[in-house]
Formats: sequence, structure tokens, C-alpha cells
Amino acid sequence: MNEKIWLSSPHMSGNEQSYVKEAFDTNWVAPLGPNVNNFENDLKSYLKEDCHVAALASGTSALHLSLILLGVSYGDEVICQSKTFSASANPIVYQGATPVFVDSERDTWNMCPIQLEIAIKDRIEKGNKPKAIIAVHLYGMPYKVTEINDIASKYNIPVIEDSAESLGSTYKGKNCGTFGEFSILSFNGNKIITTSGGGALVSKTLENKEKAVFLATQARDNAPHYLHSQIGYNYRMSNIVAGIGRGQMTILDSHVAKRRSNHEFYLNSFKDNAKITFLKEPEGYFSNRWLSCILLDSQSTREGLRLALEKENIESRPLWKPMHQQPVFKDSPSYLNGVSDELFEKGLCLPSGSNLTDAELDRVVSAINTYFVTC
Ligand SMILES: Cc1ncc(COP(=O)(O)O)c(C=O)c1O
Repeated sequence: MNEKIWLSSPHMSGNEQSYVKEAFDTNWVAPLGPNVNNFENDLKSYLKEDCHVAALASGTSALHLSLILLGVSYGDEVICQSKTFSASANPIVYQGATPVFVDSERDTWNMCPIQLEIAIKDRIEKGNKPKAIIAVHLYGMPYKVTEINDIASKYNIPVIEDSAESLGSTYKGKNCGTFGEFSILSFNGNKIITTSGGGALVSKTLENKEKAVFLATQARDNAPHYLHSQIGYNYRMSNIVAGIGRGQMTILDSHVAKRRSNHEFYLNSFKDNAKITFLKEPEGYFSNRWLSCILLDSQSTREGLRLALEKENIESRPLWKPMHQQPVFKDSPSYLNGVSDELFEKGLCLPSGSNLTDAELDRVVSAINTYFVTC
């Protein structure tokens, strides 16, 4: 059997271990220390905006804290892009609130501004104005930032920008991760850079960053004994993990370049195959192409191809099943136009890691070509 080709596996630079060693040598083995501060500074410099970064245990915890800081609580409603990974929506439920799902548009596969406004008007009419909007740059492609922000401002609803998959992407020259009232990043093992597990919350104000760090470190009030006047969380990133992050920041741009070149390679390889199409980058959008995705002509082609790749020990995955189709969210209101359902039926994510070799990319293309010759 050929060696496994993964969808998106961790890719170390070689610099990580020196930062981790430094943490051991100086005994900063705790959820604080120089690596945490420096990783936050590295991210802030990368994002190039006036923002404040808190390194956390995961992107999910960053989403949870952003909801808490926006005052989302029991009985509230929060709008969330339906086409996303479940972690975008789960923290809404942690707060006892209800997710309201909004479908996608075809240009970026992200939140549809038309459906968003329909949803907001309808929820207001029903007497429950949404407390926040969670919009996602899925697979690294920026959502329609201007349109979504305009609607959010019109109704005075804050946007939480889920940038878990889009570090290194830009919209009209500005970095994803800087557009929301709060933005979140993920450094999970499959992301464009990884700390094995980790995330960050990006805030517009230092005050909000400090509040997030306070909540993430068990909400300990200022006293010599342990004193708590609020519920806290153990959500801070450890200094060891942040050392991996510092090493990863040294190669982030080259990871973006490699993932984009994987995408170009697939695009060129299948340009004559009428059954395969790709999501184009609209003008002003720059995607990190975290995952290279293709659309097939039907669900059966998509599933046939996925199984053919699996036989060759090549991992691929259907585009994310929308949240409104998930059994766990079956009672949530949703505002739909059929786009995310169709993307789920016909879409497939191909191996996209920045550590893929030319030989591995050739293997993927040849397995796909063989499938189309024999199917
Ligand atoms: C779109 C999206 N949002 C949120 C998350 C959650 O991030 P984490 O795994 O770091 O909790 C992920 C990834 O896992 C994701 O892909």
C-alpha cells in the first residue's frame, strides 16, 4: 500500500524546538511566559492593524469568550454561517443561546448578505434581535466583508469574525482576522500554522483583550487569596505551546505560498475536465487556499471520487456539511437558499498541506484522472 497522503497535516519549520527548549531551560512551563507574550506580538505585527491579541487554548475558546464579552446569554439568538465547522456554532449553545443559521452565496461560499438581512429582519419581527453575527472565511476564502459589515452596522449588531481557516488571507489588502468586533484564529493541527492545538482572540481594544485574559485564567480577582466574582475558564495558551507558535510564525508566508501553488497545480491539471470546477478568487480577495476544494457535477461523482482516492490511501473530505443539516441543530431556525446544500453534495476537499511533495501531488492528480477514465 502507498503511503498515506493527508488532507492537511502539521508542517514544522525546524525553529519550533528552540523556543520550546528555551521555555524548559528557563522553567516557564505554565500558561504564561515570554513565548506567550512574544507569540501574541508576532501575530499582532503580522495582522498589521491596531489590534490586541490574546493567545488561548483553542479557536473554540476564543469564540466562546467573544460571545461572553458581547454579553450573549441564555435566551439570546446569535446568527451563524451555516456552512462552517461545528466549532463556529457550538459556543453559542454553551451560553444557552440559540444559533440562527444563514446560508451561503456562490461567489465565496460564505455568508449570503441577502439571507443575512432577511434573517435579521425576521428575528426582529419575531421579537428577538440577534446579539451577534458569526461570519466565517471558509477554506481561507474571505467572506463579503463590506456587505456583511454594512448590514451589521445598519442593524447595530456586532460581527465575530471566524478566521480559524484564513490566517494569511486578505480582503482589499487587509488581513483576515482584523474585520470583526472580535476575530478568532485557530492553530489546530490541520491549520495553516499549528501549535498542536491552540487559538487566539483578536480584539479592537486593550480593555477587551485584558478582560479575555482575565476570564481565560479563571477570573481571579485582585486579592492575596483566591477571590472570584465571576465564572472563569481555563482557556489560556501554555508557554510551551506558544513556543511552537513562534517557530511557525517564521514560515507562515511560505505556507500560504505553497498552499496557493497546490491550488494552482490542481487547477492546471484539471482545466480540461468539464466535470471539475473551482472557486475563483473574486477581485480584491486573496485566499490562503487553506484547503483546495473542487466541485463535481453530481453527488455520486463526488462520492465515487472520494472512495477511489480512499482506495489509493489518499485522504479527501466532502465540503463541510452545513449546520442546518446537523442533527444536533435540527431545532435551530435557518434562512436558506440551497447553496450550502449543493456545495455539500458536490464538493470535495483535496490534499492541501504545505508539506505535500511534487510526487504526492502527482499521485493525487493521477488517481483522480484514473477515476474519470474508469467511472
Ligand atoms: C471555521 C472554524 N471555526 C472554528 C474552529 C475551531 O478552532 P479550534 O479547533 O482551534 O478550536 C475551526 C477549526 O477547528 C474551524 O475550522
